[in-house]
Amino acid sequence: MAADVDALKAEAGIAAAAFVKDGMKVGLGTGSTVKYTVIELGRRVSEGLDIVGVPTSIETERLAKQVGIPLRELGSLDGLDIVIDGADEFDPQLQLIKGGGGALLREKIVAQSAAAMIVVADDRKKVETLGAFSLPIEVTPFSWQETKRQIERLFSCPCVLRTLGGESVRLGDVVVEGGPFVTDNGNLIIDLHCGASIDNPRASEVALLSLAGVCEVGLFIDICDLVIMAADDGIQTFSKADSRL
Ligand code: 5RP
Repeated sequence: MAADVDALKAEAGIAAAAFVKDGMKVGLGTGSTVKYTVIELGRRVSEGLDIVGVPTSIETERLAKQVGIPLRELGSLDGLDIVIDGADEFDPQLQLIKGGGGALLREKIVAQSAAAMIVVADDRKKVETLGAFSLPIEVTPFSWQETKRQIERLFSCPCVLRTLGGESVRLGDVVVEGGPFVTDNGNLIIDLHCGASIDNPRASEVALLSLAGVCEVGLFIDICDLVIMAADDGIQTFSKADSRL
C-alpha cells in the first residue's frame, strides 16, 4: 500500500538532519517537508547538539523557536555550513523550482550563503523538465501589473497574482479578489504557468531577473548538492556531480 505523503515527508526530513553536526551554522528552510528536519534538530538540541539556525521565513522562525533551536541573523554570521530546504520540483541536474510557500527570496539568500545545500522531498517532486509546478516570482508591489505583463510577454504564458482566498483588497487601482499573498518582505508573488517546458532554467532565471520589478525567481540553479527523496520503497539520494558534501 502507498505510504501517506506526510509519512514520506517526515522520512526525508528526518534523514537530512543526520548531516547536521556539532558546531554547525544551519540554514533552516520553509515548508511541510523541512519542518520535520527542524523538529528533529530541535529534538537533538534538547539532547545536547550545539548548533545555531538561520530561518528562511517567519513561519520557520516560529517553529524553530518552539522546538528550542538557538537562532541567529544571517548578517551576524560569516556564512553557513549547510542549508536544508524543501523544493516544489527538481530535475536530473538538481535544478529546482522553489517558492510554493512564498519564501523564495529569503531561501535563496540563505542558500547562497551556505557551503552546501540539501533538498528534502517526496517522489512527487522529481521531474524530467521543470515547469509543471507554476514558477513563483517575487515582484515589487509598485506597478505589479506592468511587471506581470512583461513576464507574460517574455514567456508567452499566463501569469497569476497569488491570492489568499480571503477578503478582497484594493491594490492601487485594482481590487484583488481574495486578497494578495504578501511575502515576509512585503512583496507579491506572480505564478508563471508554462507547463513542463523550462528546458533552459538558467536562461529563464537570467531573463526574469533582468526585469526591474522582479525581486527574485524561484529557479535555484547549480546550488543544490544533494536531494534526499522519500518514496514508497524507501529513501533515494541524488547527488550533483561536483557536490560539496
Ligand atoms: C517555500 C518552498 C518550499 O520549500 C517548497 O514549496 C516545498 O514545500 P513542501 O515541502 O511543503 O512541499 O520553496 O517557499
